[in-house]
Amino acid sequence: MGKISAAITAIGAYVPDFVLTNNILETMVDTTDEWITTRTGIKERRILKEKNKGTSFLAINAANNLIQKTGLDPKEIDLVIVATATPDMQAAPTSVFVASKIGASNAFGYDLIAACSSFLYAASAASGYIESGKYKKVLVIGADMNSSMIDYTDRKTCIIFGDGAGAVLFEPNKEGFGIQDEYLRSDGAGREFLQVPAGGSLEPASEKTIKEKKHFVYQDGKTVFKWAVSNMADVCEKLMNRNNLANSDIDWLVAHQANKRIIDATANRIKLEKEKVMMNIERYGNTTSATIPLLLNDYEDQLRKGDKLILAAFGGGFTWGSIYLNWAYNN
Ligand code: UT7
Repeated sequence: MGKISAAITAIGAYVPDFVLTNNILETMVDTTDEWITTRTGIKERRILKEKNKGTSFLAINAANNLIQKTGLDPKEIDLVIVATATPDMQAAPTSVFVASKIGASNAFGYDLIAACSSFLYAASAASGYIESGKYKKVLVIGADMNSSMIDYTDRKTCIIFGDGAGAVLFEPNKEGFGIQDEYLRSDGAGREFLQVPAGGSLEPASEKTIKEKKHFVYQDGKTVFKWAVSNMADVCEKLMNRNNLANSDIDWLVAHQANKRIIDATANRIKLEKEKVMMNIERYGNTTSATIPLLLNDYEDQLRKGDKLILAAFGGGFTWGSIYLNWAYNN
């Protein structure tokens, strides 16, 4: 009997309707379409405009899309992990609400919060549950409503982020498909360079924190950029060497969409042709925990059973890592 590995067997996705283009941003802050496109690769992003809706709304829609596409009975789901940096609220996990709303009445759930690496870490957690043999269907939803923590008068951050969600189902596989290896890292030295300073236990919300705009994302972009470029490439290289993978063995690089220049630099370091690099940053911007599942959803029709994928992410914390997986199905 083969070893159990955790294979992705289904994907779903959701992005809100409102399209925030670079041209609209030109009317909001001192920026240009040309600057944004050349510095980041982003042309537009989706923003959730409906009142009284949070990250759970995005996650529920992505999960329901997966359920509709596959006919999955939500009662069979054992665990729902919502990977996010923007949970609906503190204390009550978003995942638990999402599980109930999608009819996953036999599942338990929790949120996994690790900035832009949340989805990667959650995929690692899911693989552990599946490989244990105790769980058969683990739903990982990467979902973020970044617009809830962006200052739309700050040109350094408002041009980057968007809202969206992607859901993937992990199931046991004994034929060699699914997650093969992973290399996950973190370094608390990064905390000062990318954060939402207030609203947590360290500095709870107050009139002062609101006046000082401390509930918005602060980023020292240049420092984060430098760390991202070297570390994302390092973990990909390490994983490839450890698994004796040449660049010609890799079918797809599925990299977190934070900046096209970071993705290109990673692809160059591992000598991967442009055609093998999944890219959709131009349409969604940086959706934090949703970038990787949104890529898998957009490229689902092009993926072939047996394709070798390298997933990679870098984000706040700092957190980063890569996962090597064999794709398990043809659509
Ligand atoms: O997903 C989580 C991880 N995050 C990342 O990986 C993000 C990493 N960082 C980046 O992607 C880039 O650093 C940014 C896209 C955020 C910024 O690009 P940059 O090339 O690093 O620009 P910069 O911050 O060094 O700014 C260069 C200049 C500055 O002007 P001065 O000081 O040289 O006169 C900025 O004020 O560009 C200016 N600038 C802008 N100009 C027009 C900054 N933002 C804008 C803007 N439009 N939106």
